[in-house]
Amino acid sequence: MVFILLLYISAACEFSIDFSQCHESTIAALITPKGCYGNKPWAIQNLPCDYECPAGERLDINLNASSLICTPCQENTYNIGGGITINSWSLHRHDFSSFCSVLIGKSWKKGANCTTWHASSDEILISGTTSINNWYAADLFLYPYLVKPGKVKLIYRREVSGQGNFFIYIDNLLQYVDMESPSYEWFTVDIPLDPGRHEIQIAFINYVTDQISEIVIKEIQIRGTEHAAYTCLPCANGKSTKGADECLHCEMGSYLDDKICKKCPYGTTSLPGSADILDCYKLKNCTVLDFHYYFSECRYGMKTKFYEWNYPLMCNNEGITLPNMYIMPCGNCPLGKFYNETYCEYCETGSFIVDSSPGKKCLECPEGKYSPKMLAFTDWGVIPDQFNTWCMSVKNTICSFGWETRGTFIITSPLYERESSIYIETTFEFIEKDSYFSYNFTKTSGTNFIVYVDGIVKDSYQNQAGGLSQHSLSPGNHTIKWLCKHSISSYEYCSLSEILFHGTRHGGSAACIPCKDGSISKGNQQMCTACNAGFTSNLNHTLCIPCPSGMVSKESSKCSLCPPGTIPDSNSEFCTLPELLVINNKTFQIQKLRGKIGNPSDYCKEDRMLKYCYGTFFGPSLHKDSIFYISFVNPSEIKMPNYAKVSNMNAYAFGIFPKNSLTLTEIEYLELEDVCSEAHDKILVNLGSELSLVNTTNLGFMLEYSNGDCCDQNKKFTTKIEFICDKYEKEGWPFFLHETNCEIVFAWPTIHACRMCSDEDLIIHKGECKDGKREIHYYESEKCVFANNTGFVKQVEKCEEESVIMSWPFLVLVLVSVVLIILVSVVSIWIFKVKHTIVLSQAKLSVRSSRAFEEINSDR
Ligand SMILES: *[C@@H]1O[C@H](CO)[C@@H](O)[C@H](O)[C@H]1NC(C)=O
Ligand SMILES: *[C@@H]1O[C@H](CO)[C@@H](O)[C@H](O)[C@H]1NC(C)=O
Ligand SMILES: *[C@@H]1O[C@H](CO)[C@@H](O)[C@H](O)[C@H]1NC(C)=O
Ligand SMILES: *[C@@H]1O[C@H](CO)[C@@H](O)[C@H](O)[C@H]1NC(C)=O
Ligand SMILES: *[C@@H]1O[C@H](CO)[C@@H](O)[C@H](O)[C@H]1NC(C)=O
Ligand SMILES: *[C@@H]1O[C@H](CO)[C@@H](O)[C@H](O)[C@H]1NC(C)=O
Ligand SMILES: *[C@@H]1O[C@H](CO)[C@@H](O)[C@H](O)[C@H]1NC(C)=O
Ligand SMILES: *[C@@H]1O[C@H](CO)[C@@H](O)[C@H](O)[C@H]1NC(C)=O
Ligand SMILES: *[C@@H]1O[C@H](CO)[C@@H](O)[C@H](O)[C@H]1NC(C)=O
Ligand SMILES: *[C@@H]1O[C@H](CO)[C@@H](O)[C@H](O)[C@H]1NC(C)=O
Repeated sequence: MVFILLLYISAACEFSIDFSQCHESTIAALITPKGCYGNKPWAIQNLPCDYECPAGERLDINLNASSLICTPCQENTYNIGGGITINSWSLHRHDFSSFCSVLIGKSWKKGANCTTWHASSDEILISGTTSINNWYAADLFLYPYLVKPGKVKLIYRREVSGQGNFFIYIDNLLQYVDMESPSYEWFTVDIPLDPGRHEIQIAFINYVTDQISEIVIKEIQIRGTEHAAYTCLPCANGKSTKGADECLHCEMGSYLDDKICKKCPYGTTSLPGSADILDCYKLKNCTVLDFHYYFSECRYGMKTKFYEWNYPLMCNNEGITLPNMYIMPCGNCPLGKFYNETYCEYCETGSFIVDSSPGKKCLECPEGKYSPKMLAFTDWGVIPDQFNTWCMSVKNTICSFGWETRGTFIITSPLYERESSIYIETTFEFIEKDSYFSYNFTKTSGTNFIVYVDGIVKDSYQNQAGGLSQHSLSPGNHTIKWLCKHSISSYEYCSLSEILFHGTRHGGSAACIPCKDGSISKGNQQMCTACNAGFTSNLNHTLCIPCPSGMVSKESSKCSLCPPGTIPDSNSEFCTLPELLVINNKTFQIQKLRGKIGNPSDYCKEDRMLKYCYGTFFGPSLHKDSIFYISFVNPSEIKMPNYAKVSNMNAYAFGIFPKNSLTLTEIEYLELEDVCSEAHDKILVNLGSELSLVNTTNLGFMLEYSNGDCCDQNKKFTTKIEFICDKYEKEGWPFFLHETNCEIVFAWPTIHACRMCSDEDLIIHKGECKDGKREIHYYESEKCVFANNTGFVKQVEKCEEESVIMSWPFLVLVLVSVVLIILVSVVSIWIFKVKHTIVLSQAKLSVRSSRAFEEINSDR
């Protein structure tokens, strides 16, 4: 048996070793050979639980002696020798507890209206906060049990403008304090711990102001909770040598050698993350490309031109001196600034400067015009305070190299990790309607240059080597971010030179431009003042004047004509229908359906309509997952605070849609504060803010509401309603028919869509004349109604009972009789005449024959 064992141990076999749990102070090891000895595993039992291995070594088995040994970790692996590492924060964790307190009066109140330590991403634990002007404390507790001497190790960073104190207590004794000013650097704290149970308290105490002040923790390690580690872990970030208890990412100019970073030999340097002296390379001599110039601020007419080495310096500048700085006249001030005899400053609000050369003053912007402000960033001596720059490695950890200044432009650091992302970001408040920003850039081919506004991609350049870009912005706060994403190749950069923001709240003005129609200025204004709805500006934009009759205007806009058939409301704010709608010679009586402007329809005052009206709207009218509310030419503000909505315009009709049913992904909506609200996945959409068409149809009339919220890139929502004459419906109801091309069509049967009867429409029924009177009934035809809903009108007219002689059947009879008599007499006369002739001729014949007979007889 021993022989066989030795045989296969000497053969180059590999084994995997699994240890059991500690049971009655012993553990067992299961040894599984790989690819030899029939792959048959065996176990070694009764090994001691308390065999210790230091950090950087793992518990192993000496197969020759069947005993425990420690084996150092291989290159680029590590372990902490038995302990806990907490560096993933997004899951709910049981291995620590945390809470926060607020100082109320003289005592700290636990859990009072504050947030405690929480995960901001999986990599980061962040201290919480409370409302401003309060003392705040966040505590994090761990209770580890150490079986051998160990330590607690913490990697943290202070964020931004950090005030506040950071403490670590062990068993109620203060072991570490940080009251330093903030820095982007990560700090590592090591505090030794004896064996036994400990209480570790990690505390951040801060007086909360409007400035962000936080502690960010990346990792907490507690070493010594186990006698030994069973495995070595691969390095996630950085590198390690054999037997390492951590992975290191050495800075530029250094390399990893036996668990520490060492400086490269003189005259050489290295890229960050190097792990071998061979990675150190000789620096080339510096050239003019390795330094740049920048200007000091202009003072007393002069400014200084300074030269400085690029940072980080990638060349050997030994023996090379920079050109001397020199003093020169200021020249022009930057856009929007004037030279006040000592230095450049922004023009006062409402004044502007076009020629900003020394001696020129800011000009007053006269009435009718205004001077919008702008901010120009063209000098890059330092990264301005308003900008933030940072770097993210491909593994989403912060890296050290951001954008660097080069005096007249900024550029991404020549040193970077492959595939890392280099950001620069800024936030400004814009107040102009036509705000925009522009920048120009250059880049090398491998990089991907992306520009975001409020997190939405606006530009993305892969192949273009440079250019100028401009984007419009809506009023409000906007965060603009430029990202240079490196590829795997080296020697890449992106640069930005001229960044301009137009329409900002702060800054200076370089223009004086006429107010837009519907707004006015009294002079020296940064913004024009809006005219109220129903008013517009005069030609000179100096006064608000009411809209001419027949026209309407919304706030700060031109007056526009109401479409044919419609009229302005009494305030000239919007178009509606007259009480008697007359169009194409048809008259409709609609006042009851509409109600008073701004008030619900008259029908809505009836109890039965309680659930079917909402302000001036009829609804809810349902279709699938959508809900509609439709007014009859009576727009109003939508008051439904439970729903997120796109705009605040008055609406003639609106809908509540599931958010995912909207095709527009870039839709900007006013988000709800209560994210738990049931209505959170719904959005309220204005389906028409203008009455744009009224016309008759075969069945009644139709209306069109247009200019609702955006529906897709080019179109806005429109609503079309077909009113159908239906004498059996009073107010009726809007029914969804279909939606095509952002137009939603409804059918609305109601008696109000039946035209009023005209004379040609009447069906007349006259009664008989009795006692000199006759009833005439005028009936409505199928498609029209009487104003008073009577259905028919009765009129009585006088008449005379007519004599029989005068009645036409009698006349006809007489006529026919006369004609008949004449006819009969003519015929009888004619018959008489014919008969007489026959008789005569017979008589003549008989006379002749008698004569002849006489002659015959006489001849004889
Ligand atoms: C086990 O024995 C073999 C052969 O004698 C030797 O080469 C090897 O180094 C030994 N292994 C250990 C862990 O002692
Ligand atoms: C809780 O904080 C909010 C804002 O953070 C504040 O408005 C509110 O008054 C606070 N409530 C109490 C009881 O302090
Ligand atoms: C760099 O400069 C030194 C002197 O400053 C010179 O001796 C050396 O030849 C230069 N090297 C190169 C590669 O030009
Ligand atoms: C120019 O501005 C500076 C700083 O605001 C001020 O001290 C100085 O008096 C100004 N000069 C003139 C002529 O306004
Ligand atoms: C940047 O823009 C300015 C004008 O806005 C222009 O003069 C300059 O040539 C542009 N530079 C580049 C690299 O496009
Ligand atoms: C923009 O941000 C500033 C400062 O955070 C704030 O005072 C202002 O009210 C914000 N403006 C808008 C329109 O949200
Ligand atoms: C507009 O301005 C011109 C010139 O300043 C002036 O003559 C004219 O009367 C003004 N018109 C109105 C309507 O104010
Ligand atoms: C309306 O009626 C008038 C007179 O009754 C007539 O002249 C006109 O052509 C009619 N218009 C339409 C559109 O029917
Ligand atoms: C109104 O309808 C008639 C008939 O359908 C049509 O001829 C006319 O062009 C329409 N008017 C408008 C303004 O659309
Ligand atoms: C009803 O209206 C018709 C015409 O629309 C009118 O002639 C009649 O007098 C009205 N009847 C009543 C009772 O008001």
